[in-house]
Amino acid sequence: MKRAIQLQDLSREHHDSLVLAKRLGEAVEDGSDEALLAAIEKVKHYYENELEVHFQHEERTIFAPIFKEYKEHIPLAGPLLKEHGAMRLLVPSLMLGNAKEGLAEFAYILKTHTRVEERELFPIIENLFTEEQLDAVLNFVPLD
Ligand SMILES: [Fe+2]
Ligand SMILES: [Fe+2]
Repeated sequence: MKRAIQLQDLSREHHDSLVLAKRLGEAVEDGSDEALLAAIEKVKHYYENELEVHFQHEERTIFAPIFKEYKEHIPLAGPLLKEHGAMRLLVPSLMLGNAKEGLAEFAYILKTHTRVEERELFPIIENLFTEEQLDAVLNFVPLD
C-alpha cells in the first residue's frame, strides 16, 4: 500500500510485526519445547529492541494528537492503545508452561492490531494530520 513518506518507517515495522506473528503461529503449530522456547526468545528480543520503541513512536506522535485534537477518532485509537498495554503485559509473562496459549494470544493481538493500524488508522491520519504533525512522525527520536 502506498503511504505518506512520513509513515513509511512505521509501515515497514508493521511488515516485520506481521512476519513475526506468522512465525509465532508456526512455532505454536510445531509445539515442541524447542520451537516454543525459541519463539519466546524471539518475542522478547523483538519487543525489547523494536516493538516498545514502535509503541512509543505511535503513542507520542499519532495517538497523542488524536486524543488531543481529533477526538472523533478516539473510538478507533482507544482500543489500539489498550492493545499496546495488553502486549506489554503479555511479553514478560511468556514461559514454557503457558507458551502455546501465550504465544498464540500475542501473535493474534499483534496481527490484528497491526492490520487495523495499517488499514484503518493510517489512511485516516494521512488525510487528517497537518504536514507538521506528519513530519513529527517522521522525525521522532526515542527518549532513551
Ligand atoms: Fe500500535
Ligand atoms: Fe504499529
